[in-house]
Amino acid sequence: MNIEILPDAGAAAARAAALVADTVRANPRAVLGLATGGTMLPVYAELVRRHQAGTLSLAGVTSFNLDEYVGLSADHPASYHRVMAEALVARTDLRPEAVHLPRGDAPEAEAEARAYEARIAAAGGIDLQLLGLGANGHIGFNEPGSPHGSRTRTVELDEATRTANRRFFAVGTDVPRQAITMGIGTILDARACLLVATGPAKAPAVAAMLEGRIGPRCPASALRTHPRVTVLLDRAAAAELSHPEAFETRIDDSAVA
Ligand code: GLP
Repeated sequence: MNIEILPDAGAAAARAAALVADTVRANPRAVLGLATGGTMLPVYAELVRRHQAGTLSLAGVTSFNLDEYVGLSADHPASYHRVMAEALVARTDLRPEAVHLPRGDAPEAEAEARAYEARIAAAGGIDLQLLGLGANGHIGFNEPGSPHGSRTRTVELDEATRTANRRFFAVGTDVPRQAITMGIGTILDARACLLVATGPAKAPAVAAMLEGRIGPRCPASALRTHPRVTVLLDRAAAAELSHPEAFETRIDDSAVA
């Protein structure tokens, strides 16, 4: 596991975008696993900046997002379909038809979950999976207690997750109680993973992920069993690590084009 602690959230986002860009430059037809959440928005903004500067094309990329809320249609303002459409598709050359998310309004959510898993396999699997981190240690919407071998499925959201994500929903609208998420096993099948966690609210989950027991209490701890994982933290998110100096990496900013 490669762990880098960067000065702040902006530096972590820039570094994440640089690593995504490296992947796409090495393989213009890469299959990217994408994530949503507030942490990812500056990462996508940085990818957009690179695209506008003419140094990054996503035209050959295929993407699969981690998750979607059950019950939300693609045009719902808080749906992850909308987030991706606005943050990346509208502002880069990523082809809309190459962008995949589970359909939240599918008539049979469980059948949609199985079909989504099959679509990932049919695309040849994921080359690089981007991940955020829930304050409760979730990855995707795999809440504590999720089996490490789990596949794409319908899950119940923890109250803590619904509360944390309320900020993305209009006042007066309810946060869904269920989501379709790639499973932890699905995520671990990616050839490489890149997790980004920033801000003090993530510090306990970061410590549990990196220094706690590997097990269902902290879903993200499963990443320690994967051979190719990079974790990007800012100082605030790293604050509860017992030995952060052991992880410190000096980044030469001039190398981040
Ligand atoms: C959300 C998403 C996760 C995301 C996490 C962190 O619930 N389903 O994929 O990584 O929570 O979100 P944020 O970056 O907004 O803190």
